[in-house]
Amino acid sequence: MSSQPPWVRKRLTVADLRKMKGAGERIAMVTAYDAAMARLVDDAGADAILVGDSLGMVFQGHDSTLPVTLEHMIYHTSAVRRGVMRSRGHAHVTADMPFGSYQASADEAVKSAIRLVAEAGAEAVKLEGGSEYAEVVRRIVRAGVPVMGHIGLTPQSVHAMGGYVVQGKDTEKAHRLLRDAKALEEAGCFAMVLECIPAELARFITAQVRIPTIGIGAGPQCDGQVLVVNDLLGVDDSFKPRFVKRYAELGGSIAGAVGAYVNDVRAGAFPAEEHSFHSATLRLLHAVEEERPDDAQVVGAPV
Ligand code: KIV
Repeated sequence: MSSQPPWVRKRLTVADLRKMKGAGERIAMVTAYDAAMARLVDDAGADAILVGDSLGMVFQGHDSTLPVTLEHMIYHTSAVRRGVMRSRGHAHVTADMPFGSYQASADEAVKSAIRLVAEAGAEAVKLEGGSEYAEVVRRIVRAGVPVMGHIGLTPQSVHAMGGYVVQGKDTEKAHRLLRDAKALEEAGCFAMVLECIPAELARFITAQVRIPTIGIGAGPQCDGQVLVVNDLLGVDDSFKPRFVKRYAELGGSIAGAVGAYVNDVRAGAFPAEEHSFHSATLRLLHAVEEERPDDAQVVGAPV
């Protein structure tokens, strides 16, 4: 009999992720935005994939997540879902609710969440905000869609926060974040992201709620961690915030590989013999013209 816990082998559910907190198992979450990366991330054994609206920055090239639309999220989440299903189909997939898809009303929020599940295959949605969104969370959960909360640095509020700055550094703000965490748990969130808050506060919140906390820039004592996949792979070598650990330097490797290709093309070294197709029966146009001038357009199909 395998000594692995059951949730290691099957498609993970929100219940499994909650059980992991109870069992003291850390949750490894990574973002993905396309099928190829989702497949690699799932193959690598990640427990959960977040189709983050960070795609607005790392994929679309914006300087914030604000321009990301619900249609974009549906498009990318569908791709990620297909990638996971082509792999082991193990990782749980949560889709971010983008700016403007849930703030106006609970009715709007429920409709947006349902589209991410029904049209894109998300298994849960994530939204940013604290106790002021408790009713919205309650309504989405009541519609049958699991919700992940997100407090601390909430990038969709970049203008209100005055930049991407660490949150909850003084006692009053820390207490407010603790109240937000409890309100989100109470409203029915199955987990919550704690972004860029002091490690001591993240540890305290983690001990105070029964649902898993997933940290990013929130120290080691959260129940799990999430990183933007491009950051952990070092795709953009100009971006290295303190909370990111790079596990590869793909930016340099990609530039090196593409540069080698460009040189090969210019030197006529690519394609080589082994990259080329041949046909023993192909008759080229000028040969046909010589043999059968009346039927000049007939050429052999390349094989
Ligand atoms: O959009 C995102 O990728 C996120 C994570 C950084 C938590 O919200």
